Amino acid sequence: MDHDHIISAKQLSRGDIETVLDHAAEAAADPAAWADRHENALLGLCFFEPSTRTKMSFTAAIKRMGGDVVDMGTVESSSVTKGESLADTVRVVQGYADALVLRHPSEGSAKMASEYVDVPLINGGDGAGQHPTQTLLDLYTIRENAGFDDLTIGIMGDLKYGRTVHSLAHALTTVDARQHFISPESLKLPRSVRYDLHEEGASIREHTDLGAVLPELDVLYVTRIQRERFPDENEYRAVAGQYQIDAATLEAGPDDLTVMHPLPRVDEIAHDIDDTDYARYFQQAHNGVPVRMALLDLLLGESR
Ligand code: CP
Repeated sequence: MDHDHIISAKQLSRGDIETVLDHAAEAAADPAAWADRHENALLGLCFFEPSTRTKMSFTAAIKRMGGDVVDMGTVESSSVTKGESLADTVRVVQGYADALVLRHPSEGSAKMASEYVDVPLINGGDGAGQHPTQTLLDLYTIRENAGFDDLTIGIMGDLKYGRTVHSLAHALTTVDARQHFISPESLKLPRSVRYDLHEEGASIREHTDLGAVLPELDVLYVTRIQRERFPDENEYRAVAGQYQIDAATLEAGPDDLTVMHPLPRVDEIAHDIDDTDYARYFQQAHNGVPVRMALLDLLLGESR
């Protein structure tokens, strides 16, 4: 894999994906063997939006390899409140760390920030844009549960604002999956994403009803309605609570269906699914550690 920065799933070839996932499988199989691989390495965390999984699993990943984090902390406790620009922030923090993870509410912010730094910059989510490391752990989870051969996946919920969806759709095209997108009319994929997917030769279909495609699916990837991205609270209320699934819903699907969710969930997956064989979303979140260990190892240099 030969990338200075990880900004978008669009930059990942099939070979890149397989390299990271194979490497992650090695980390998962024998984490003790990786314990001092990046001793003294420092990972800079610049999170301008809340996070539990991305921030903590990157922290766990670098610590599992003998390194540590330097964390900007909350926006409110940083000099962002004094008016410091994103460009200046990352230019400064790169001097404290060997690689940076940036989460920011503005789409395109990671690409812009990467132009100001010489250390690897990883996009940990840029507004409604991309979330490429979530995609890698999603793919890891899909590969270990359903495989990539002859894969049919349904992606349901907020397809308009969901950055995990926008990232994952490109990568699923790279692994030749059939993709069904299920959402209310108002939360369909943005035209620009649909256009890019068509240009890439993606196999996609759009639906408003899960029931129409559920029996065909190997994987159902459910997403939260991204309340924080709606310009108008009334628009959110008009769609909130739609597209919920429970154990009864899944009786119409295949017995070996894999249900995923990038988390956090609100109410779109009922708790009666959590202890069934369908549920893979907690495993998916846990896979964030070996996948991010593998990615950091490749970016920092395997023999650092
Ligand atoms: N899936 C995900 O990005 O979760 P966090 O927002 O908690 O990082």
